[in-house]
Amino acid sequence: MKITIVGAGAVGASCAEYIAIKNFASEVVILDIKEGYAEGKAMDLMQTASLNGFDTKIVGVTNDYSKTANSNIVIITSGIPRKPGMTREELIGINAGIVKMVSSSLIEHSPEAIMIVVSNPMDTMTYLVHKTTGLPKNRIIGMGGALDSARFKYRLAEALGAPISDVDGMVIGGHSDVGMVPLTRMATRNSIPVTKFLSEERLTQVMEDTKVGGGTLTKLLGTSAWYAPGAAVSGLAQAIACDQKKMFPCSTLLEGEYGLNDICIGVPVILGKNGIEEIVELELTDAEKEHMLRSSEGVRKTNGLLEI
Ligand code: 2OP
Repeated sequence: MKITIVGAGAVGASCAEYIAIKNFASEVVILDIKEGYAEGKAMDLMQTASLNGFDTKIVGVTNDYSKTANSNIVIITSGIPRKPGMTREELIGINAGIVKMVSSSLIEHSPEAIMIVVSNPMDTMTYLVHKTTGLPKNRIIGMGGALDSARFKYRLAEALGAPISDVDGMVIGGHSDVGMVPLTRMATRNSIPVTKFLSEERLTQVMEDTKVGGGTLTKLLGTSAWYAPGAAVSGLAQAIACDQKKMFPCSTLLEGEYGLNDICIGVPVILGKNGIEEIVELELTDAEKEHMLRSSEGVRKTNGLLEI
């Protein structure tokens, strides 16, 4: 199993580290345009192999896509991250050009690869990859909901005073500060609805803290987060590499599902060796449907800024 990660920044390098430690890939190639940067990150990570007990071979390359050839999974993390106070959507001007070039270069050398898109604004970048590469929809996966759901579970566990291992919950919709749809109605504490333990007011606070989870960290860190994004991507890659048939909320091209067409937005999908193997249609309440529709309108607005 060969996996390529474009972007040796914090998210890409964290993703490489988590993939290596999980030991399900034979080779991870990290590519960056900055001379020597990917090589340095790869070497530093390889020097943890004996300490972290993995056999994955991590290689760094500077802008040489031939070294990514025949990858099974390719992951795009390249582009600029947010600064404090910025929205993800404000990154489109620079990141769209990068993602267009990177996705084309990756598929030229790995025409059968499954592509995971991380760069922001992620739903729009995922849509751009569809337009740029023409890959079948099952092989283009946007990573946002897996991260947002992890933040949702963190906030739920905090509110419940419970261990995160007791908590489950999912966030669908756009990966944006205003567009996320945390499904509080379906969230559970060890199979019991969290609504039994938390007031509507407290759940509303959990939802709001979840939506701005990325922005909160950007304010604290001065840049976008990287540990949880990297871990979320590694979970998607593992589900594909190990054919786990695991469910995640991912940004995927909708063609009528959830009443939406010609848009990439976060919905529950089953991930396996063929990438997105099934889109799971949930029975949403009228309020959830309205929330999802408003979220899609925000994503469409950002898509409209693309010069495709
Ligand atoms: C985040 O929410 C980078 O969009 C990513 O942290």
